[in-house]
Amino acid sequence: MTNSPVDPTSTTAWSALKGHIQDLAADRIDLRTWFAQQPTRVRDFTLGVADLRVDLSKNLVQTETMRLLVALGGEVQLKSQIDAMFAGRHINVSEDRPALHTALRRSTSQPPLIVDGQNVSAAVQGEQDRFLGFAEDVRHQRHLGITGKALTTVVNIGIGGSDLGPAMVYRALAAYHGPIQARFVSNIDPSDLGETLATLDPETTLFIVASKTFTTLETMTNGRLARAWLLEMLGARGIVTSASSAAEAVAKHFVAVSTATDKVAAFGIDPVNAFQLWDWVGGRYSVDSAIGLPLAISLGPDVFRDFLAGFAAVDAHFSQEPIERNVPALLGLINVWYVNFWDARTHAVLPYSQDLGRWPAYLQQLTMESNGKSVRWDGTPVTTSTGEIFWGEPGSNGQHAFFQLLHQGTQLIPADFIAFANPSVPLVDSSQDVHELLLANFIAQSSALAFGKTADEARAEGTPERLVPARVFTGNRPSTSIMAPALTPSVLGQLIALYEHITFVEGAVWGINSFDQWGVELGKALASQVVPALAGDQSAFTQLDQSSQAMVEYCRAARQR
Ligand code: F6P
Repeated sequence: MTNSPVDPTSTTAWSALKGHIQDLAADRIDLRTWFAQQPTRVRDFTLGVADLRVDLSKNLVQTETMRLLVALGGEVQLKSQIDAMFAGRHINVSEDRPALHTALRRSTSQPPLIVDGQNVSAAVQGEQDRFLGFAEDVRHQRHLGITGKALTTVVNIGIGGSDLGPAMVYRALAAYHGPIQARFVSNIDPSDLGETLATLDPETTLFIVASKTFTTLETMTNGRLARAWLLEMLGARGIVTSASSAAEAVAKHFVAVSTATDKVAAFGIDPVNAFQLWDWVGGRYSVDSAIGLPLAISLGPDVFRDFLAGFAAVDAHFSQEPIERNVPALLGLINVWYVNFWDARTHAVLPYSQDLGRWPAYLQQLTMESNGKSVRWDGTPVTTSTGEIFWGEPGSNGQHAFFQLLHQGTQLIPADFIAFANPSVPLVDSSQDVHELLLANFIAQSSALAFGKTADEARAEGTPERLVPARVFTGNRPSTSIMAPALTPSVLGQLIALYEHITFVEGAVWGINSFDQWGVELGKALASQVVPALAGDQSAFTQLDQSSQAMVEYCRAARQR
């Protein structure tokens, strides 16, 4: 890597892509025509990585487009940027550290990874053995609650990357749940913790306080409240009666995951019950670290290892394949094509899987916290648009809500459709396999978006002339279809790694650091000034802007404070 990012807009490939889109438009951009002209289009544009089948054919790309996008990847030194990430170079420049989430799932058969003189592989393996061993202790009732009862509920208290990954995976792998249920508390809204605590038995609950920094307001507040609740409930039952029994209760019912072992100890959690991650793991890239502890407990270490193996399979592909056959690279480059050459502002993610209900929320942090940047890694302004807005909902629900805009709205919204050939829960209705109804919708929607319906076709269906314009579907609305045989732990790991790397590729083209998140800081700092103002501190109040002051006054009046 050089000392400043390559400006993608000054590359030869960028200029060629600008010319190319005009050539395509002059010739007419029409997927019906393109499919007719190229009978092998699906074969030519379908790729495979691990268990994932990725069909790019319904994107607004031709073979020449892909050639130019690969050339763009070459000019921005994508391959050497990928190599730098895997090797542990300090690509997170603003925080002067590597981005080494790939080390968390690196196969033990690979040579150890040494970074900055440290054996990262050994550290990862040691910590993984510890937290998976603890998970086994809880599952096999070797680690019990203070009264000797088995722990039956694990409550993860964390937010952002310390919540979204485990919560998404827990829901996605519902078919693999064991007898210990997991719950997730993230929000500072008291309803979140309050409603969860109301359902819990303190004697059979294990709390995991998950925070990379162990300073996050929401997590620290909820963690303290949960600890106070535990001690109060156990006190009311005559179980906690002294400082030592309180310490024993915390030791039995609280564990932590963090980089900040000193802060964990100050919270009152025994270092023996603290599991580590490292500053080189971004929160949104951490589900495969000890942040996955609730998963290891509820799904079991074997499932967790299968999950990690899925990541590793995609990592191997991403690190080794040349860009022209590299699936995450090609998907990332196609996203750049839409953002920068088609002015696409948003990107829909549409899992045809109820189990992936939290997938869009998870992806929003991964993609938008990574690539929502206006400066490049050397501090200079970006030279083009970055960071599309990712959003979505599982299908088929979305079809009955927002798909109208996808089909007939005025914006170009690339969509990723995701589906699994086999269901997690098989159901049959009057001899109809219900999962096939889901798959039929998955297949039909991307077809409708791509090929549309002409006015003549609408007329041929008997549509009255006055309704023809409203019943025309323009088509040429791009999508990628990602399929796998089933939503297994490995496939889920593959999907996450795929999107992590797509995100990286986009950031690499734009020359931004996808691994910091300074944009979250200002609001946090201002909130700490608003807190005393809400509590009546006049000097804090006067520091606030006019609008904030008015809202503080409104709250104080409505709350009669
Ligand atoms: O404020 C954003 C953020 O720092 C995310 O990047 C992170 O995942 C989340 O907060 C939680 O941080 P922590 O794990 O340190 O509590």
